[in-house]
This record gives sequence, C-alpha cells and structure tokens, in this order.
Amino acid sequence: MTVKQLELINFRNYNKQTINFGEGINILYGQNAQGKTNILEALYISATGKSHRTNNYRDLIRHESNGFEVNLTATIAGRDNTISVKYILERGKYAEINGVKREKLSDILGTLNMIFFSPETLEVIKGSPAVRRRFIDIFLCQTNRQYLHFLKRYNTLIKNKSIALKNEKKDKFGDTIPVWNEQISNYGGKIAYYRMKAINELNAYMKREIKSITGNLEESDMTYKTYCSFAEDADQEFFISRLSEELIKGLEKEKHIGQCIYGPHRDDFEILLNEMSSRQYCSQGQQRTLALSLIIAELFYVENIKGEKPVLLLDDVMSELDQSRQEYLLKGLMDVQTIITTTDELSYHDMKNRNIKKFFIEKGIISSKVDLN
Ligand SMILES: Nc1ncnc2c1ncn2[C@@H]1O[C@H](COP(=O)(O)OP(=O)(O)OP(=O)(O)O)[C@@H](O)[C@H]1O
Ligand SMILES: [Mg+2]
Repeated sequence: MTVKQLELINFRNYNKQTINFGEGINILYGQNAQGKTNILEALYISATGKSHRTNNYRDLIRHESNGFEVNLTATIAGRDNTISVKYILERGKYAEINGVKREKLSDILGTLNMIFFSPETLEVIKGSPAVRRRFIDIFLCQTNRQYLHFLKRYNTLIKNKSIALKNEKKDKFGDTIPVWNEQISNYGGKIAYYRMKAINELNAYMKREIKSITGNLEESDMTYKTYCSFAEDADQEFFISRLSEELIKGLEKEKHIGQCIYGPHRDDFEILLNEMSSRQYCSQGQQRTLALSLIIAELFYVENIKGEKPVLLLDDVMSELDQSRQEYLLKGLMDVQTIITTTDELSYHDMKNRNIKKFFIEKGIISSKVDLN
C-alpha cells in the first residue's frame, strides 16, 4: 500500500497545500514548529479517524477558519482509493471513501494501514497499562473490523455498569447487572481472545527482531495479562466462560467497591528483556530498541494479515536511535513506504541506494526538492 497524494485544507497551520509522496523514503525536513508533524498527523487521521495528539477535532482547524479537509489518494491492492476526512464546525465531522459519505469516522479504520512511530511510542514500553491497551486496540481495530464492534459494545456496557454500581446503594439497577454481565462476558471474552492472539504473534516477530538488532545478545518476551490465566491454545469460549465465572463470583465485591473489577478493561501486557521487566529495568537505549522492534513486529503482522505492507510514519525518532539502529531500520525496511520528519536533512545523505524524496517545510508551505544523491 502506498500513499500518493495528500491535500490539506485549513488543517493546523496549513492553508491549502498538496504533497505528492514517493514510493520509497519521504523526508519532511525543516525547523521546529513549521508543520512537519502536522502532516503525519493528517495521514494518521485518514487511516484511523483519530489524531495521535488530541481528541478534540477543533484543535485541528486552522485558526480563524471554520473547518478543515484532509484528502488522501492511496494505492491499495493495485487500485487508487480516495479517503477524505472533513470537519465543518456547523456540520460536524464525517469521512468519505471513494466519494461515498460515511457518518462514522471509525468506518475508515482498516481501509489504510499506517504504523506511527513517534517519541510517544516509547510510552508503550515505559507508560501505564492504559497506554498499552490503547496501542493494542488501535492496532487490532486496523486489522480486524469485528474487534472494533466488540470493543464499542463492551465499553458501553462497562460504562453503564459502572454508573449502576456507583448507584447501587440506591438499589436502582441491582437486577440489571447480571443481565449486563452476560453480555460483558461475551464481548469481553472475545476481546481478550483477540488480544491474546495478537500479542502472541507480535511477540514472535519481536523476539526475532530483538535477536537480530542485538546480534543475539538480548532476548525479549511479551506476555498478555488479563482477568484469568490461560493456555496458549485457549479459544474464545474459554475466555467468555472464564469471565462469566469471575463476574458471578465477584458480583458482591464489585457492588461493595462500586467499580467494574473484572474484565479486559483492566488488561495489560508485559514486555520483558532478558527476563526482566522493561518498564523497570531497561536502559533508555534498550527501551528504544524494544519500541523499534515492536513497530517492526507490527509491520510484519499487518503485512501478514493484509497481504500488503503498511505505510510507516516516523516522527522525530531517528535522532533518538544510534547510528547502527537507524541503519537497521532503514535497511530492513527497504520496500516499505516511509515518511520521516527531521530537523536535520544532512543525516540522510548516505542513503544513496534508496529511493528518496525530500520536502522542505516552512511555516505551513511545502516545497519538494529534487535529490542530487
Ligand atoms: N489549529 C492550528 N491553527 C494554526 N496553526 C496551528 C494549529 N495547530 C498547530 N498549529 C501550529 O503548527 C505548528 C506546529 O506544527 P508541528 O507540530 O507540525 O511542528 P514540527 O514541524 O513537527 O515541529 P518540531 O520539529 O518542533 O516537532 C506550530 O507553529 C503551531 O502553532
Ligand atoms: Mg514535530
């Protein structure tokens, strides 16, 4: 899959700009605060409907305008597709896929696959369980349409049940909870099953990458932590019935505490390096290496499912990796369309054998530059 053209209208600091990407490496360079990350953000929005930086679409509208448009042309399985995301203050936000309007932005999920590696990706290694849940959810939503449906239903149920549990003293919803619990087990069990499968697969790819990056010196392992222990071949029914049991057993406790205690909304996954928790014991460099291998693992996983390589977005991360890891990333991803932001154009001079296109970004104006390498 490749991104061909992106048009931005009143998006962030862009008035009206079009950018034509190359199939290899695209380097967006320029000083700080010129609009480089804004371009990656627009690309990511056209793949997921979501910004990686804000939940408020208003932030995306260029100051003093009343709406924005992001129009993207991409080649998927040999065919050109257009995806537009629009937000007009009076009309709200919507998407169009090949000219057909979709009211729900989440409808665009899965059309395009993009993997975003930014300094924030490190939070998946270092941060709280919520960051890891979000990571795995976005990832699964891009690759599995059913998952998004299960997740939405589950989240609504948990939200309603939480309200009910808080009101339990008034005994308003007491009888409803067991009914909800049945549905929670059904959706929650499915979510846990898909998360387990995805984490197992990512783990296998990641192990391979870590070995390769570190010359067999280090070994990673990633394990899924959920409401029950499970065997590697556990199926959906297993997760559903285990959650159902937990919820029945724990009902009084949940009522007493007034919170939803059991279910995949409390999940986490642990990343180990050399059998030690990467959150607690890894050096910064090791954490970056893990993040890098996680991103590459994602890439292989998506390719395996979709039969096509996703587009890789790298925001400011090259400077965070040492020379050998930068080379590993760029050499290893020879045939992946990659869009990189950097303040330092010069550090890419030695990549002669790759198809490179450069764009200079200054105050929301994009100019492309013919590479003389
Ligand atoms: N809604 C908006 N309207 C107008 N300008 C905006 C809006 N949102 C952000 N900006 C501007 O966009 C610029 C930041 O863009 P961006 O984050 O893409 O910078 P960058 O080139 O990636 O910089 P850095 O190298 O520091 O990461 C800032 O100047 C900011 O004021
Ligand atoms: Mg930036």
